[in-house]
Amino acid sequence: MLTLALTLGAALAQEHGHQDPGHTHDAEEEHRFADVEKWSAVFDDPARDAWQKPAELVATLHIAAGATVADIGAGTGYFEPYLAKAVGPTGHVVAIDVEPTLVDHLAKRATAEGLTQVEARLGKPEDPGLKPAEADVVLLVDTYHHVSDRVAWFGRLKGATRPGGRLVIVDFDPASSDEHGPPRDHRIPADQVLKELDQAGWTLVDRPTLLTAQYVLVLTPKP
Ligand SMILES: C[S@@+](CC[C@H](N)C(=O)[O-])C[C@H]1O[C@@H](n2cnc3c(N)ncnc32)[C@H](O)[C@@H]1O
Repeated sequence: MLTLALTLGAALAQEHGHQDPGHTHDAEEEHRFADVEKWSAVFDDPARDAWQKPAELVATLHIAAGATVADIGAGTGYFEPYLAKAVGPTGHVVAIDVEPTLVDHLAKRATAEGLTQVEARLGKPEDPGLKPAEADVVLLVDTYHHVSDRVAWFGRLKGATRPGGRLVIVDFDPASSDEHGPPRDHRIPADQVLKELDQAGWTLVDRPTLLTAQYVLVLTPKP
């Protein structure tokens, strides 16, 4: 059995071991996150809270009560309790992942934790998995580099946001001296993310600096 000794940094190093930032969605990528027990130990490691600061991160996004938030690449559901609290009982959290075992886990976890506003949804690699104008906020944490053909994918995502909608990208900063995260040469610089998202039709509106290991980029669709 895999133990908690597998830290997020080590696991992400392993995860990043064979890919470049512009990799395509190949057979090896398929089902990389199928092992729920393994990835729960990594993503839900209580030690993560100290540097990931999930409550502060969600608070800094000023998500309105009743809003719809999409967490794309939701994994084991680490952020769902925080997002569910932010949107409140009348809001909606759409937790999307391409891995069926994780989506099953997300649904069971939401039920077990009484998070009635969380919907677990199976996505497809080439499709953000949202309906037109469904989301007020779309969050991707440590998932950006998994998306293939990113300019087209994020271009399609614009249609899923409501007027005033925001896209939030959180990922490991190659310029950070923080020890958490994958090797520096496997991280995508924020400038590259912003360049690709500019091509996809998104513009930066905020860049909160509360995390030391990761950048937080908040964007809206260009008019
Ligand atoms: C490194 S994990 C991050 C999990 C979670 N966001 C967290 O911070 O704990 C990346 C997740 O993205 C999922 N994923 C990869 N490509 C995806 C895509 N195109 N659409 C949705 N999810 C995707 C993987 O299955 C995996 O669960």
